[in-house]
Amino acid sequence: MPISQAKLSPVRREASKLVSFARDLAIDAGRVLKQGFHRRLTIQYKGRIDPVTDIDFKSERLITGSIAKHFPRHAILTEEGTNSKGTSGVRWIIDPLDGTVNFAHGFPIYCVSIGFEIDGQLAGGAIFDPERDELFWGYLGGGAYLNKTRISVSKETRLERALLATGFAYDIGTARRNNLGLFARVAKKVQGVRRPGSAAIDLCWLAAGRLDAFWELKLHPWDTAAAKIVVEEAGGRTSRVEGAAHSIFAADLLATNRLLHRKMVALLSGRR
Ligand code: IPD
Ligand code: CA
Ligand code: CA
Repeated sequence: MPISQAKLSPVRREASKLVSFARDLAIDAGRVLKQGFHRRLTIQYKGRIDPVTDIDFKSERLITGSIAKHFPRHAILTEEGTNSKGTSGVRWIIDPLDGTVNFAHGFPIYCVSIGFEIDGQLAGGAIFDPERDELFWGYLGGGAYLNKTRISVSKETRLERALLATGFAYDIGTARRNNLGLFARVAKKVQGVRRPGSAAIDLCWLAAGRLDAFWELKLHPWDTAAAKIVVEEAGGRTSRVEGAAHSIFAADLLATNRLLHRKMVALLSGRR
């Protein structure tokens, strides 16, 4: 829901304050991830191929503990089980470790993602990649940044020169809607499609101009909350894959450098 002009300034001010807290927290949680990387992990399975490690839980405890201490009235929604109601209008949406399959294999693409809403409006977020010491962050009306540098999406307009990323949900082995058909269709039209294994990093790399577009069919709010605002503040555009308006509670997402958006919607809708 759009914020009225009268409310915009206080929300922006609040967002700028909260994003600074989110940045520090993402760095602290990222350090926990980095310390656990390449160590012996305790791994449980939430499904056939969907792992969760002791480090996912350790990162989540650090983040939720800190939010509860500093902002006891804020609501929190996380991947690993926290869903608390608040009384303040602020809700934190957190993936304590995005890229758990990579992490469990020692494949160094993973991050922590901390986003927040103010009165139901996505208002800011921070994503920290401890392998590259890259902190992506942004907030409503405040721009998008990689560490201290402002970032913006690429200017590519041609599909055949575009580098894309996508991902596959954990039900790939059994679900009919598994993204493999779309992957094949898109791969034939663009310069390349990558599958890095962390949706939040994919989106941040789009925001930084390293990728030109990203799509995925079955994401969760914690995968996209922080990075969606970073993409939008970097000048990118987000929608559902067939072009409808996107919210982080929708499963499918198309994010582009804006210039490729219509072409990507047509491609993903089978009209190209
Ligand atoms: C997964 C990653 C992956 C994406 C999956 C997500 P997790 O999150 O973001 O890139 O393709 O859809 O579930 O399980 O590593 O937090
Ligand atoms: Ca995730
Ligand atoms: Ca996760």
